[in-house]
Amino acid sequence: MYGLLKNVLFTLDPEVAHDLTLHQFSKNPYYLRKLFKGIDPAKMIEVKTHNMTWRNRLGLAAGFDKNGIALDFLNHLGFGAIEIGTVTLKEQIGNDRPRMWRHSKELSLRNALGFPCKGASYVKKNTQTYNGEATLGINIGKNKDTSLNDCPGEYSQLVKIFEEDAGYLVINISSPNTKNLRKLQDQVFLKEILDEVNKQRSLGIPIYIKISPDEDWSDSDTFVRFLIDNNIQGLVCTNTTICKKLGTGGVSGNYLKNIARKTQKSFLKSSSDFPDFDIIAAGGINSREDINDLNSAGCNFFQLYTALVYKGPSILDLALKKG
Ligand SMILES: Cc1cc2nc3c(=O)[nH]c(=O)nc-3n(C[C@H](O)[C@H](O)[C@H](O)COP(=O)(O)O)c2cc1C
Repeated sequence: MYGLLKNVLFTLDPEVAHDLTLHQFSKNPYYLRKLFKGIDPAKMIEVKTHNMTWRNRLGLAAGFDKNGIALDFLNHLGFGAIEIGTVTLKEQIGNDRPRMWRHSKELSLRNALGFPCKGASYVKKNTQTYNGEATLGINIGKNKDTSLNDCPGEYSQLVKIFEEDAGYLVINISSPNTKNLRKLQDQVFLKEILDEVNKQRSLGIPIYIKISPDEDWSDSDTFVRFLIDNNIQGLVCTNTTICKKLGTGGVSGNYLKNIARKTQKSFLKSSSDFPDFDIIAAGGINSREDINDLNSAGCNFFQLYTALVYKGPSILDLALKKG
């Protein structure tokens, strides 16, 4: 069934197709729930660490539902976690269109969206009423016009707004489409953000940092220790990659797979002595082999986005362990 729908959707501009789909999902209609039944909760195997519990190992990565408008339907599909966002404090429209492209042969997408978001107070209405079984992740980021100096205050305000609704929070400092954002991965800037955020936290909700695959992570051991010292519970590895030969923006899916895997494995190794430090892997995950490969390197939590676009809801089968 998704094959037929995809034939139609792929004749449209990728962002238009996405918006149409998400709009339908947001109504959580009976016909869609009948067409896409979702995976059987009885077959799910819970994944639990010191920091959080997912009802199964497969989460939806950030960016698919930026404003949290389709949580009930996404929960129905059977994700172990749904990460919404990136949520910005103020509403912003993002970059000029077109800003999303398909690279179909490689099962990849490229986007230069630049955090279009309706703003925290709009998103809050959706997060505070959500009561599904999938763990709710809330991914937060800076507004385009916020200076680097003002970032600590902005991230801490977002933590204050969302910590009561979140199963986990993600500080996004790695999108390639917001000028200077990746500079915040520098420990000097990051320390300032974490100091403010830690002053704000009161509920013990885990916070993860989302990193880029394009940095030199040869110092991953040091980075992990730095994060642990600053009361951070883990990483989301990774965001999209810059690939200039394809064009502007960040690339996801198969194009990203190798470079994301290198980063994920490096951090899985660096954190292997710290069982309370979680790695959530994202980047070109679209098969059981991908999951098994990461799992044997010590990974328990997995996310995808691009594979949902190319393969449809049947990709959720990866949530279930087999064989
Ligand atoms: C269209 C699109 C928009 C995205 N927007 C965000 C975002 O707002 N925040 C974020 O942290 N990651 C965003 N991502 C990155 C994904 O969360 C994920 O890290 C990346 O796509 C790798 O996973 P995948 O290969 O399974 O797609 C976006 C990805 C895509 C394809």
